[in-house]
Amino acid sequence: MKGLIIYKTKYGSTKKYAGWLSEETGFPCVSTDEADIKSLPSYDVLIFCGGVYASGISCVSFLKKVYDKIRDKKIMIFACAASPYDERFIEALAEHNLKDGLKDIPVFYGRGGFDMKGMTFADRTLCRMLRKAVAKKEPKDYELWESALMSVSEDEKGDWTDKAYLEPLLKSL
Ligand SMILES: Cc1cc2nc3c(=O)[nH]c(=O)nc-3n(C[C@H](O)[C@H](O)[C@H](O)COP(=O)(O)O)c2cc1C
Repeated sequence: MKGLIIYKTKYGSTKKYAGWLSEETGFPCVSTDEADIKSLPSYDVLIFCGGVYASGISCVSFLKKVYDKIRDKKIMIFACAASPYDERFIEALAEHNLKDGLKDIPVFYGRGGFDMKGMTFADRTLCRMLRKAVAKKEPKDYELWESALMSVSEDEKGDWTDKAYLEPLLKSL
C-alpha cells in the first residue's frame, strides 16, 4: 500500500502527529505547502492532518482543492485540537467541516497543545477575547473546547500530545 501524510499546522502539534504517523506507517509526510498535487493520484491512501482553529480543521480547504483527483482513494482525516478526547466533539467537528461529498471521510482525533505566549498577535488577541467571554459563564456550562481554553493560564503552556491518540487511525488502516 502506497500512502502519503499531508499536514497543515500553525503551532507544531499536528506536525508532531504527522511525524509519528510517518514513523508508524512508513508513509512519507509533507506539509500542504510542499505537497506535489500532480502526484497525489499515485497514492492508495492519503491521510490529511490538520490543526483546529475556531472549529475549522485546517487541512480541509486543501483536501477540497484536490478531492476530485483522489476521490477513489482511501482518505482519512486526523484533526488536532485543544479539547479533550470526546466522541461527540469529534462528530461535531466532522459535521461542521465535512459537507456533501466529503461527509463519509472518517475523522480521527488527537489532543494538541495550547500556548498563548507562542501565538501570533492576532491569535492571542482572539483567544484573550474568547477567554473573557467564557469567563462570564459558570464552569459547569463550558463547552469542551472552552474548558481547555480556560484550563491553562496565559503564562502556562499546555501540551497534551500523545502517540496513543493515533491508535484508532492505525487500526483502521
Ligand atoms: C485562534 C485559535 C483558535 C482555536 N480554536 C480551537 C477550537 O475551536 N477548538 C479546540 O479544541 N481548540 C482550538 N484551538 C487550539 C488548537 O486547536 C491547538 O492549539 C492545536 O494544538 C493547534 O494545532 P497546531 O499546534 O498544529 O497548530 C485554537 C487555537 C487557536 C490559536
